[in-house]
Amino acid sequence: MTTETVVGAPPSGAGDPALGGPPLDLGTARLIGHGWKRDCYLHPGDPGLCIKVPSIKPKGTRRFRERFIEWRHGGSIGDQHNAREWAAYGQFGGLLAPYLPVYHGFVATSRGRGLLIDVVRDADGAPSAHLKDWLRESTADEAAPLLARINDLFDLLLGSEIWLMDLNLTNFVARIDARGDARPMLIDIKRIADNKELFQISGWSRTLMRRKLARRMARFHAKVEMTRNG
Ligand SMILES: Nc1ncnc2c1ncn2[C@@H]1O[C@H](COP(=O)(O)OP(=O)(O)OP(=O)(O)O)[C@@H](O)[C@H]1O
Ligand SMILES: [Mg+2]
Repeated sequence: MTTETVVGAPPSGAGDPALGGPPLDLGTARLIGHGWKRDCYLHPGDPGLCIKVPSIKPKGTRRFRERFIEWRHGGSIGDQHNAREWAAYGQFGGLLAPYLPVYHGFVATSRGRGLLIDVVRDADGAPSAHLKDWLRESTADEAAPLLARINDLFDLLLGSEIWLMDLNLTNFVARIDARGDARPMLIDIKRIADNKELFQISGWSRTLMRRKLARRMARFHAKVEMTRNG
């Protein structure tokens, strides 16, 4: 898999640079979520797909650190996050498959280069809510099996030394199946470091990474409690 290949091109051909089609117009596309650096739109021609594009922030409002990162690596932070996520999917997408939607590569859009991903939808067809919203509406009994599955995922991450960058409640969605059971799906898989950096991490620094990840997992559970009680 390369970061430039467009796989799973939209049905119309629009947005597929490989076919020479025009960029996919997101002007009237439905926004299903947004985060710190990216907006997530439903694909206007394929209800099974969504597209993550860099969010728009007026130039003057970006902090110095942000501008420095953009200058240092080229491209907006949203673009960099998309590239990191696609690279991560190529590396451990198979291992985490039960917890992930399928990623399809890049597509040209009216909002710049977008990352094409299967939308996680509940059995009734609605895009699944992120965990923060879902937890506010659910009981402790409903949440327990979902949180147990998240712990299984955390064990897998630690055991496989996959150092994910953000373990936020909004980086998970809760997929409700036909029986009403909720399954956690991870929708943001950026890692702390890329492979080259990881290659240099060995011995004691691996132990530090492990501790760091364990701390993040503990913080995740503290946020779960805060959200449920708040
Ligand atoms: N595949 C998907 N299916 C359904 N909803 C999604 C999907 N991908 C993203 N979303 C929605 O979009 C929101 C933002 O996505 P994402 O976490 O990738 O953006 P971000 O800029 O990395 O945010 P942050 O930096 O805050 O983590 C999610 O919280 C979720 O509600
Ligand atoms: Mg995110």
